Amino acid sequence: MTEKPIILGIETSCDETAVAIIQDDESGVPKILSNIISSQFDIHKEFGGVVPELAARSHVEKIDLIAKKAIDESGVSLDKISAIAATAGPGLIVCLTVGLNFGKAMASSLGLPFIGVNHLEGHALSPKLHSKLNYPYLLLLISGGHSQYLSVNGLGKHKRLGTTIDDALGEAYDKTAKLLGIEFPGGPNLEKFALKGDPDKFELPKPIINKGGCNLSFAGLKTAILRITKIIKNKQEKFDLAASFQKTIEEILYLKTKVAFDEFKKINSQDKSSFVVAGGVAANKGIRKKLIQVSKEHSFQPIFPDLKLCGDNAAMIAMVGLEKYKKKKFDKLDLPASPRLPLDKNAKFLKGAGVKL
Ligand code: KG4
Ligand code: ZN
Repeated sequence: MTEKPIILGIETSCDETAVAIIQDDESGVPKILSNIISSQFDIHKEFGGVVPELAARSHVEKIDLIAKKAIDESGVSLDKISAIAATAGPGLIVCLTVGLNFGKAMASSLGLPFIGVNHLEGHALSPKLHSKLNYPYLLLLISGGHSQYLSVNGLGKHKRLGTTIDDALGEAYDKTAKLLGIEFPGGPNLEKFALKGDPDKFELPKPIINKGGCNLSFAGLKTAILRITKIIKNKQEKFDLAASFQKTIEEILYLKTKVAFDEFKKINSQDKSSFVVAGGVAANKGIRKKLIQVSKEHSFQPIFPDLKLCGDNAAMIAMVGLEKYKKKKFDKLDLPASPRLPLDKNAKFLKGAGVKL
């Protein structure tokens, strides 16, 4: 029996230094042999957000140790690895460069194929690390930098159905958390904070809810939060505002997902389609519950990555690497890091003032 391919994946696009090793499996779901993630929360905490130069410095300091840990934990010897995959974009250029160059150096010194990976495709394929998933499927990608509905038609084949025209959803969570004085990392902490509040206390706007198809907008919501934080007086009202924000987001995603289902069905005709929700914000329990509800109502099968695979990790990068390896889609060692790397290259840029929906 021939040995199944083993891929080493590297992720350094933002504030996680991560290396993972996965192996293909006859079950159709690869085995995660190791998945090491070193988060930089403590470094960026005092600044209330990620500081690119500090993030890059930390990646440089840790990448070799994290790689060694991933290799040791996997029990795989270097000569058994089939290819090296590393995130090439999108992300912070100074951070991307660290992992990408480390990956190229490993590939060239071991004489292995090198595979550059789109970080967003990593999120898109992350559920494949624990369940079988066939193309095409509808994807809602909600992370710190992106909020998009996409039809995932195959490896490297994406059609964008909708996108945020201003802030990403993770950004909206992080900014709202900051306004409420909630400690970094804002998103997960806000979710817990909101549990103590009354979600019906404040009526918040749902920007472009009845127009623009399944495009999204969150900037107006942030402005409303800013206005209310100036007049609220006590801690309970802060809990209430966080709860009202969480409820409003759930309602926006419920309504826009219904539109996305219709758009997806216009281009894909199978009876029961899968709806994958991925990216850091997909860890949010309230959002999961609401999106499971809307999926059931419209005969879509909801699929979420395991909680530990929602945020940035290298197993998802190795997952894309594995699919590319099987198709012999390798990259040259001069592949550049790309801060902007859309999944659907044909989609219009829909950001900023004056956007026509
Ligand atoms: O996918 P990710 O780890 O990194 C990017 O590629 O951006 O997503 C990070 C984002 C951050 O904005 C973080 O606050 C948000 O995901 N996030 C959450 C939750 N966990 C992470 N937002 C809301 N609720 C959560 N439980
Ligand atoms: Zn991410």
